[in-house]
Amino acid sequence: MGRVIAVANQKGGVGKTTTAINLASSFAAAEVNTLLIDCDPQSNASSGLGLAKDPERISTYHLLMGAASGEGALQRTELEQLWIIPSHKNLIGANLELVEAERREFRLRDAIEPLRERFQFIVLDCPPALDLLTLNALVAADSVLIPMQAEYFALEGISELLDTVERIKAALNPELAVEGVVLTMYDDRTSLAKQVSAELKKYFGEKLCMTSIPRNIRLAEAPSHGKPALLYDVRSRGAESYIRLAKEIIAHYFPQATETPGTPEAGTPGEGEGATAEEMGKTA
Ligand SMILES: Nc1ncnc2c1ncn2[C@@H]1O[C@H](COP(=O)(O)OP(=O)(O)O)[C@@H](O)[C@H]1O
Ligand SMILES: [Mg+2]
Repeated sequence: MGRVIAVANQKGGVGKTTTAINLASSFAAAEVNTLLIDCDPQSNASSGLGLAKDPERISTYHLLMGAASGEGALQRTELEQLWIIPSHKNLIGANLELVEAERREFRLRDAIEPLRERFQFIVLDCPPALDLLTLNALVAADSVLIPMQAEYFALEGISELLDTVERIKAALNPELAVEGVVLTMYDDRTSLAKQVSAELKKYFGEKLCMTSIPRNIRLAEAPSHGKPALLYDVRSRGAESYIRLAKEIIAHYFPQATETPGTPEAGTPGEGEGATAEEMGKTA
C-alpha cells in the first residue's frame, strides 16, 4: 500500500514546493513509483515539473469537486516513475465551493484511495495556509513532512501546525503521523543556524530528519527549466541532499533495504545485501 506524505507548513517560502518536487523525484529516481499531487492554487509544483498552464487540463480541482477520477487526472513527467496531478489557479475556488459539500474534508482522501495500490509514495504539496485544501491533504495523508528554516521564532509557527495535526488526529484521521521536520535553506556555516538546529533537535528528537537541505542556487534555478534538481544538475549539493532525504525516508519504511552497492553512502564493501527499490516495491 502506498504511503501518502503531505508536505505542509502554513508559512510561505519555507521550501515546501522545492521539497515536494525534489523528494518525489528522488523517490522516482530510486525506482519507486511515485505520484506528486499539487494541492496549491499557485501551481508551483506543476510548473516546476514543466507543466505549462492549461485551464482545460484535469487538475486537483476536478478531483476535489468529484468531476474526475484520480486515474483520469494523472499526467506523466520526464521521469519514468514519477506522475503528477497538476493544479490550476481555479483550485482557490474549491475552498469556498466545498464549504457546504458532503464529506468536504475527505474529498482528496476518497479520490486517491484507488491510487494507493499503484504508487509506493504519494507526495502532497500544500498551500501556505491551514485552509480546507491543507485540511484535505492532512486527512488524506499517512504522515506530514514539515519543511522549516533554521531561524529564531521558527518554532512559534510550528506549534499551530502541530496543534492542527493533533486536532485532525482526534477528529478525522487517527493514523496521521509526523513524518519528520526537515531543515531547508540550511547554512551550517552560521552559528545561528547551528544553535537553532540544536534547539530543534532537543524539541523534536528523532523526528528531526538527519538530512538537512542546504541553501543551493541549483534548487532555485531548476523550476524555471521545468525540471527537478536531479535532472537539472544531479551533482549539485541541492540534488544530492534531496536524494539523501529520500533514502532516509525509504529506509524508514523498508528497513530491510540497505543502500544499493556503488552509492556513496554504501556500507562496507561486501556487506551490501542491497535490496533494490523494485524489490522494496514488492514488499510494500
Ligand atoms: N534549499 C534551497 N536553496 C535555495 N533556494 C531555495 C531552497 N529551497 C527553496 N528555495 C527557494 O525559495 C523560494 C521558496 O521556496 P518554495 O519551495 O516555493 O517554498 P514554499 O512552497 O514553502 O512557499 C523559492 O524561490 C525556491 O526556489
Ligand atoms: Mg509552495
